[in-house]
Amino acid sequence: MLEINIDSSLKKAERYQSLIPQLESLFLDEKDLIANMANLCAVLKSEFSFFWVGFYFNRKEELVLGPFQGPLACTRISLGKGVCGKAASDKKTIVVDDVNAFPGHIACSAESNSEIVIPVVKNNSTIFVLDVDSEHLSNFDNTDKEYLEAICALLTKSSETKHLL
Ligand code: SME
Repeated sequence: MLEINIDSSLKKAERYQSLIPQLESLFLDEKDLIANMANLCAVLKSEFSFFWVGFYFNRKEELVLGPFQGPLACTRISLGKGVCGKAASDKKTIVVDDVNAFPGHIACSAESNSEIVIPVVKNNSTIFVLDVDSEHLSNFDNTDKEYLEAICALLTKSSETKHLL
């Protein structure tokens, strides 16, 4: 049976450490980026109880919604705008403790209170971003940054990305 098992009594870093080899196995037989993104959203949302997990593709002038898990979301975000657009144009992960204090934050849902956005960069351009939202304030820290960046690197290494940008 296809499943991911993470001991919920473990600390966050240990849960990410337990997840990574399981993702490696999951991605082993599948090179399709959309399929792997979709499963990754499902796994992160269910295992870490995040409010919203999803991807936005860089379509040059704007970001366009990709696979996600969670409530309805904005479909297009201009580069440089919101947390996603800024992470994409700066090519740097952004951790936001309180989205209401982030200038230009785009509120797709009033229930989201903190957020992390990881840009995936290829040939010096952001090809897509991973956006994770939480209902809790200050939900994300350097542990999430470190492991979500590693998971994005694994996704990109395991999947076909040559059609992007
Ligand atoms: N809050 C994001 C928009 C995407 S939604 O959270 C799904 C932003 O400010 O870019």
